[in-house]
Amino acid sequence: MRKRGILITGAAGEIGDSLIRSLVQQGEDLIVSLDLKPLGTDYSKKVTHIQGDLMDHALLSRLVSEYEIATIYHLAALLSTRAEFSPEMAHQVNVEGTLGLLKLASEQSEWRGEPVLFLFPSSIAAYGMPSLKLKDEFRRVREWEWNYPTTMYGCNKLYCEMLGIYYSQHYRQLAVERPVTLDFRGLRFPGLVSAYTVPSGGTSDYGPEMLHAAARGEPYACFVREDTAIPFMAMPDAVKALLMLANAQAQSLTRRIYNVTSFSLSAADFRDQVLKFFPKAQISFEPDLKRQGIVDSWPADLNDNDARRDWGWKPDFDLIRSFEEYLVPYIKQRYS
Ligand SMILES: NC(=O)c1ccc[n+]([C@@H]2O[C@H](COP(=O)([O-])OP(=O)(O)OC[C@H]3O[C@@H](n4cnc5c(N)ncnc54)[C@H](O)[C@@H]3O)[C@@H](O)[C@H]2O)c1
Repeated sequence: MRKRGILITGAAGEIGDSLIRSLVQQGEDLIVSLDLKPLGTDYSKKVTHIQGDLMDHALLSRLVSEYEIATIYHLAALLSTRAEFSPEMAHQVNVEGTLGLLKLASEQSEWRGEPVLFLFPSSIAAYGMPSLKLKDEFRRVREWEWNYPTTMYGCNKLYCEMLGIYYSQHYRQLAVERPVTLDFRGLRFPGLVSAYTVPSGGTSDYGPEMLHAAARGEPYACFVREDTAIPFMAMPDAVKALLMLANAQAQSLTRRIYNVTSFSLSAADFRDQVLKFFPKAQISFEPDLKRQGIVDSWPADLNDNDARRDWGWKPDFDLIRSFEEYLVPYIKQRYS
């Protein structure tokens, strides 16, 4: 008999680390994690970690021969900045890797006669505001608005959302008998800020980088202008959103991709928050015009009304609580 479990790809990354922590705390029996890197935390027998490549088809086949995968959190990806330096490689990992996993989940859904639940973290990078004027005019964007990404990462995310919807709702639509299809659910996250991990490779990372540098007593030159605004969310809320969406009743969902967010602020506001807790922080602004262009194309805020209505989404950490109760205490502890 195969053992029934949850698969987490990209498990050694920022979100994976927090997600595994929460799932283990909830008493999840069997978690299989997959990443190119080893896990940063030792969960002993609670997590079976496979160090390997998502693109390794033989590895995925072995995995399903051993485990009955009921839920997949597909976190593995090349993030926005890295993806711009290696766009074709990003396409391979972000699109072909996702396609391979969607295929695997489809086959498993048919075998089981029950949908495999497939959770996918998308991003504000799936949006593309054509100008700063329009960004200012249309601040809280809805899921279907301004889907004109300008980065390889954003294109990958938007297309994978579409692929997920296809495999859920239209896969083998011309077959005489429609197979049981997977249950795809996606979240468009804003920039995430974690107290535990230092970000790498995201273009929204100037916020968390500023904070971690201040806690380490190091100067920081922010790569966007002071007036640059995008939405953010504390990492525990990102994990909460993933788990809430995974547990939501299928009948209550009116969409397959949901915006979720907590607070929106400018880079200068972010600096002011950091200075409140680290008054000696040395933060300057040295915009990198190219990365600036990418952040300018992302919306200033997200409208997450549908997530709030359909599955009761509400962040626990607003701006004040994120800094006072999560980021600052844990970051101080981390570097003390
Ligand atoms: N952190 C954010 O602000 C943010 C915002 C929106 C969406 N997301 C999405 O959430 C997911 C997780 O993000 P994160 O911040 O934890 O990123 P991260 O870079 O910290 O983690 C990604 C992990 O994927 C792994 N990985 C990359 N290629 C792989 C491959 N071929 N095979 C196996 N593993 C591979 C990496 O080793 C890494 O540990 C990503 O899909 C990302 O696009 C993140």
